[in-house]
Amino acid sequence: MNRQDLDAYWMPFTGNRYFKDHPIMVTGSEGNYYVGENNNRIFDGLSGLWCVGLGHCRPEITAAVSAQMGKLDYAPAFQVGHSLAFDLANKLVSLTPDGLDRAFFTNSGSESVETALKMARAYWRQKGQPSKTRLIGRARGYHGVNFGGMSVGGIGGNRKLFGTGVEADHLPHTWMPEAAFSKGQPTMGAERANELEELIALHDASNIAAVIVEPMAGSTGVLPPPVGYLNKLREICTKHDILLIFDEVICGFGRVGAAFGAQAFGVTPDLMTIAKGLTNGTVPMGAVVAKTEIYDTFMAAGGPDYMVEFSHGYTYSAHPVACAAGVASLDLFVTDNVVDQVNGMSPYFEACIHQFDDHPLVEDVRNFGLAGALQIKAQDGQPALRPFKIFRKCWENNVYVRCGGNTIQLAPPFNASKAEIDNLFNVLRDALNSVDSWSL
Ligand SMILES: Cc1ncc(COP(=O)(O)O)c(C=O)c1O
Repeated sequence: MNRQDLDAYWMPFTGNRYFKDHPIMVTGSEGNYYVGENNNRIFDGLSGLWCVGLGHCRPEITAAVSAQMGKLDYAPAFQVGHSLAFDLANKLVSLTPDGLDRAFFTNSGSESVETALKMARAYWRQKGQPSKTRLIGRARGYHGVNFGGMSVGGIGGNRKLFGTGVEADHLPHTWMPEAAFSKGQPTMGAERANELEELIALHDASNIAAVIVEPMAGSTGVLPPPVGYLNKLREICTKHDILLIFDEVICGFGRVGAAFGAQAFGVTPDLMTIAKGLTNGTVPMGAVVAKTEIYDTFMAAGGPDYMVEFSHGYTYSAHPVACAAGVASLDLFVTDNVVDQVNGMSPYFEACIHQFDDHPLVEDVRNFGLAGALQIKAQDGQPALRPFKIFRKCWENNVYVRCGGNTIQLAPPFNASKAEIDNLFNVLRDALNSVDSWSL
């Protein structure tokens, strides 16, 4: 493409100026690879943006989506149903923890977060406690980019340009230098959950609707929860009648070696936000799964039974084509035995990633399930520079990894072979070793 043909598209979360001077493009995808412009095959070391864990262009999903396009391309989301939406909800709640049995569909992770936060506030109002509105997130948390998610999110760069959000406060993050290079969950740091008691003392539980955290923080660079941390959050939320929301957008559908983070870490929230793997990244879709008691509260307070109980939803909620992709993806999640795949490969992945523990440019290595991150030392006071260059170098060598802040993030497809994992880390090591001899 000509340089001027790149101007019209304002790319998201991208350095547009550098990109448009040095574009990198994909033309196709298959299995665990993208196809590049020279027909080269690029290993997908982040499963898209953490969303294509089952691999690209799975025929089962393609066939379901194609058939659906010719059968029912759209159905009004409000006041009219179609059977795939109910099928998908049933399949989804068969995977979520017992008691989380009511699914509300959205079109993205960000919309799932907004939906869950509004559900939490509305729930308390319907229970006669309208002052419970404040939302609590966590430093370094990522909950998408809309106003609610931005407000509970804890990544400064995602907040600073956008002014006032919704009333939120934040728990401290769980990263501790003393726990650097932990394999899996750090054994120290659980006490950071006790900071919630401090926030409750400050704001009072009568003013707090919900706490939202990622069970394992992903976008900030893979922070597995310290052992016991989530249990403490659960205890404190229960004690003070505050809803606990797990943002499972990355953790869901196998990445952490269980259907969800809730099961991997043995803690059950009141609401879960979901997206990405729900359709294996093929068609935009998200969901909120709520405890039955929350749904029942809305039904009981809903007035005459023809009236809307929750004034919220999207034109494309439960879009038939997305539902077709979702049903096919959840079927594959089961028939591929994703949980076994991930648990089978994660010890090897862990051993490989921790071979970087003594690399001079690496200041932390973290992993859980088939997710991992290298925290890279800053260059010239710029924490994001080396990771960006490493991402570019790997791409040149036909491996896609993500750079995010001061980290390189990895999340290979669930069925990645040992040879593919070896190649991923070999290319990454070469990039790390040569990064300082290369300027942008
Ligand atoms: C935990 C979490 N929540 C929410 C989102 C936002 O999802 P989306 O980009 O689909 O809006 C993401 C995206 O990476 C995420 O990781």
